[in-house]
Amino acid sequence: MRKRIPKILITGGAGFIGSAFVRLFIRDGSMLNGHKNRTVPIVIDKLTYAGDLKRLKELKESFKFYKTDICDKNKIRSIFSQEKPDSVVHFAAESHVDRSINDAAPFIETNVKGTQVLLDASRKHGVSKFIFISTDEVYGEIANGKFTENSPIKPNSPYAASKAAADLLVQAYIRTYKFPAIIIRPSNNYGPWQYPEKLIPLAILRILEGGKIPVYGKGLNVREWLYVDDCARGILAILKKGKAGEVYNLGGACESRNIDTVKLLLKTLGANPGRFAFVSDRLGHDIRYSLNSAKTAGEIGWKPDISLAQGLKLTVAWSLEHQTWLKSKLKDINKLYNK
Ligand SMILES: NC(=O)c1ccc[n+]([C@@H]2O[C@H](COP(=O)([O-])OP(=O)(O)OC[C@H]3O[C@@H](n4cnc5c(N)ncnc54)[C@H](O)[C@@H]3O)[C@@H](O)[C@H]2O)c1
Repeated sequence: MRKRIPKILITGGAGFIGSAFVRLFIRDGSMLNGHKNRTVPIVIDKLTYAGDLKRLKELKESFKFYKTDICDKNKIRSIFSQEKPDSVVHFAAESHVDRSINDAAPFIETNVKGTQVLLDASRKHGVSKFIFISTDEVYGEIANGKFTENSPIKPNSPYAASKAAADLLVQAYIRTYKFPAIIIRPSNNYGPWQYPEKLIPLAILRILEGGKIPVYGKGLNVREWLYVDDCARGILAILKKGKAGEVYNLGGACESRNIDTVKLLLKTLGANPGRFAFVSDRLGHDIRYSLNSAKTAGEIGWKPDISLAQGLKLTVAWSLEHQTWLKSKLKDINKLYNK
């Protein structure tokens, strides 16, 4: 008798990192559990302002799409009954710190309640692997040293608090129900198709429209940059090799102060080095994030390949080719930043 092909369900697959993962998963040949047959990934996405199927247009018929809110318990249940996924990779979230400072409500709804709805549906349908995409921001800030997977959860922004709540809920399901979940905490991602509200694509967009790059405070905040394809590769490796119940940090190993990142970006763009302006700092702005990813390197054999300089080159080249897409988000970005 032929074995059933394992099915994967991906939430937030029309978003920035989710779409990079869907592309990689399809390209990789999707050999889950050593299975050689191709499986068509099932993508669920509400298509909020941040979701865009253009990110997946090159994949045409190679995935199945449901435009669905993960908070809609009945719809999620019926998709799970119909599709019977074996594994779930959960990316869907409200993801922008600045928006969470303006209004935390959608963050609680999607990031916390949505995760609970998915956990319950996955448990009911006997999903054998549930990957929760958390964030390094759940640890809060660290002036010196690095966070390990055992560092305390001490989030500072409403976004980070909502992700931490979901992360803790996943941990509670692991403990209470022996639910086979894995938590991944990636550092700051950047790369093609990122919505231009985040630092790097926003900076590129501002330069493309002839303006200056806004830099919060004095630009001294440090982020650990992770090129999105390295992140997607790490998630796929953890999906295949990770141990249920474990947490894995996924750091880009490229720490940089925002001001240095902006200067390197201006150089990569070939723009005047003075085209940035300091603006009032973000409320509660975390000074530094830094991950110790030794466990992921040791157990999974993953490490990032792309340096910040290489990644910025790739991102700038992509952005110059996709100016129409970036500029199509300008009205929304100007509304967000009151321009
Ligand atoms: N971008 C980063 O630097 C970063 C770093 C670490 C972790 N993460 C986490 O990775 C995940 C993906 O981040 P991203 O940058 O791709 O985000 P994104 O904002 O680009 O994409 C989020 C996707 O989720 C969808 N979505 C939002 N609410 C939904 C809902 N209620 N139901 C169904 N779909 C919904 C959106 O339409 C969008 O396609 C998030 O969980 C985020 O917290 C992001």
